[in-house]
Amino acid sequence: MNANELRQKYIDFFKAHGHAQIQGKSLIPENDPTVLFTTAGMHPLVPYLLGADHPAGKLLVDFQKCIRTGDIDSVGDFSHLTFFEMLGNWSLGDYFKEGAIKMSYEFLTSKEWLGIPHEKLGVTVFAGEEGIPRDDESAEVWRSLGFSEDRISYRPREDNWWGPAGTTGPCGPDSEMFIDMGKEPCGPDCEPGCSCGKWLEIWNDVFMQYNKDADGNYIPLARKCVDTGMGIERTVTILTGKKSVYDTEIFAPIIASIEKESNYKYGSDEEKDRSVRIICDHIRSSTFILGDPKGVSPSNVGAGYVLRRLIRRAVRHGRKLGIGTTFLTKIAAVVIEKFSGPYPELLENKAFVLDELEKEEQRFLETLIKGEKEFEKILPNLLKDPKKFNRIKNQT
Ligand code: ALA
Repeated sequence: MNANELRQKYIDFFKAHGHAQIQGKSLIPENDPTVLFTTAGMHPLVPYLLGADHPAGKLLVDFQKCIRTGDIDSVGDFSHLTFFEMLGNWSLGDYFKEGAIKMSYEFLTSKEWLGIPHEKLGVTVFAGEEGIPRDDESAEVWRSLGFSEDRISYRPREDNWWGPAGTTGPCGPDSEMFIDMGKEPCGPDCEPGCSCGKWLEIWNDVFMQYNKDADGNYIPLARKCVDTGMGIERTVTILTGKKSVYDTEIFAPIIASIEKESNYKYGSDEEKDRSVRIICDHIRSSTFILGDPKGVSPSNVGAGYVLRRLIRRAVRHGRKLGIGTTFLTKIAAVVIEKFSGPYPELLENKAFVLDELEKEEQRFLETLIKGEKEFEKILPNLLKDPKKFNRIKNQT
């Protein structure tokens, strides 16, 4: 199963169940000024989740490009990404918990679709908190599908509540689906949702029942909706039994191009592997941000600042790999080639993407080289003061 096959299967499944495919939207949110980037498939649908009629109807399906930068400093490990693709299906006042859960279960387990064995699945549901009751309705649907109590775990708001995406908007309890990776339980309390690595989340069904207002009140929605999200990269990793998202075909050509530019073989050194993963993620994200129809340029504010940080961090890690010249456009060209099938805008905006990357890389390299020269000038004095030397060294 590769990403293209998964994307297509998901869309086909929901179309076969009466959903209209809609076009994923820009990475720069249209309908939510409270955030810099589209962080989930539901983002462009906020007005419809709050009650407006969608022109394509009540049942929708799409794939959406997303950026989440909250964990940017964790990128470099085996799982974090700043850019990812999310598959989603929505019910705007049509089916609710039972319909959503039953469809999710069919897609996951039916041989015609993903064919995951029932025994490998576990689920979580909202345990209830702050006056909002435990989600017994979802638990009952899972039981009716053959889930025993040890495969249904009740978890707090911290784990089983979604939204709003910004500060206000639609939100509600969710029910998440996990795959048992076959590891030994980490202890007697190890159950679906445990973060020890035994259970990996594959899908999230959110039951949009409330609108959180600016005063923090949860106002029940007149029309209840369903919002679901399945991350493509993570799901392909799980389905193909890989250890890391970076080991999937999604990233293979990008990593190969970094190897080529750096003459470094991925897998030979832990610290350098980390740099490869950072470049891989950050250049993929930067290419998608620049290649978006609403593409922004690197700057010192808002989305442009995030872009600048991504590009500059990639450049610094390129130098750690021993790359002495500009190289970002070569990696970006590979990203464009790999993803322009589902995202043709990347090809349409290729010249802009490459031009902006080249300019920003040049600008930053000049700053770096100037900084290094300054550093060499003050080095003799610094060496006399090891404490100060270490402080400056740790900042770079
Ligand atoms: N909006 C939900 C999520 O992003 C589905 O997980």
